[in-house]
Amino acid sequence: MEPLTVDRCTALGADAVTSALGLGGPKPWSEHKMLGLMNLERRGDRVVLVRSDGTIVAAAVAARHEDLWNVEVAGDRQARARALGELLEWLAVDALQFWLPPDGDDLWLESARVGCSVLHERTILHLERSLATHPPQPADLQVTSWNDDDLDAWIAANNEAFAGHLEQGVWTRATFAERSSAPWFDPSLFVVHHDGNVVDAWCWCKVDTATDPDRGEIYVIGVTPDHQGRRLGSGLLEAGCAAMASRGVRTVDLFVESTNSAALALYARHGFTTVGAVRALHLDTAQHSASAD
Ligand SMILES: CC(C)(COP(=O)(O)OP(=O)(O)OC[C@H]1O[C@@H](n2cnc3c(N)ncnc32)[C@H](O)[C@@H]1OP(=O)(O)O)[C@@H](O)C(=O)NCCC(=O)NCCS
Repeated sequence: MEPLTVDRCTALGADAVTSALGLGGPKPWSEHKMLGLMNLERRGDRVVLVRSDGTIVAAAVAARHEDLWNVEVAGDRQARARALGELLEWLAVDALQFWLPPDGDDLWLESARVGCSVLHERTILHLERSLATHPPQPADLQVTSWNDDDLDAWIAANNEAFAGHLEQGVWTRATFAERSSAPWFDPSLFVVHHDGNVVDAWCWCKVDTATDPDRGEIYVIGVTPDHQGRRLGSGLLEAGCAAMASRGVRTVDLFVESTNSAALALYARHGFTTVGAVRALHLDTAQHSASAD
């Protein structure tokens, strides 16, 4: 391989964005990092690009979520380790969350080699359900489609249902504006239940027809704590699956923390099985930043 060149970037041209998005497997980046790559300058995120003979062969992306930097890498194995090392040095923070790719043990070793230690590990399970073998069973529930008038009530309900959750429990109007401006956003696939004027349960679904029209995702489902255990989650899950089935979706998937026993019980009872897992390491990088000073 040609000698690698490594660049720190706070803005990317369109060609670089396309190359970075296309690194590795069919879905090398989480949605959050894809948004980061596409809007790098505006969001204040950081990217390290590694090139071989002018071609981008690996990238490491750091996106700040509240006070925590989240890091992902993709690309050629040797080059992505270089990208990670360079990004850790550039960030120079005491802690961050690192999302390991499925074949990412080499990166774990690389982070240990440069002085990082694992404070905490999360496993996010990837679950799937076939709507052919488990067709939707809509419950007798009064639901509506997303309406912007629900925005503040929904943000409050969401942050209450996901209190303590690093990514999902701290949504603002800006977070919603960013996600709902994605081309796949469809208000009729965001099913909401009210108790009077209050939003108490919802199932927000995502069908990215540009990527795979047969596949839909349970993007965010929640029930406010004082309404849980009344089968609202079950009803909204089926209503969401029914909305996606009416668009021709055949397979529904979702991502869930391996420790979320309430959600896992709900999904198991509704025909979902585990098809994969993603690990996130909360890294103590203080020793690394100190040695880089
Ligand atoms: C997961 C969640 C949506 C479930 O909603 P819910 O309305 O409480 O669930 P339901 O009343 O429909 O219960 C569905 C099944 O899950 C089981 N379940 C619900 N809560 C449970 C709990 N805390 N522990 C174990 N099982 C539980 C129920 O026993 C029920 O099984 P059953 O049909 O045999 O009775 C809700 O707990 C929630 O919003 N949690 C916080 C947000 C969240 O984690 N969302 C999912 C992210 S992937």
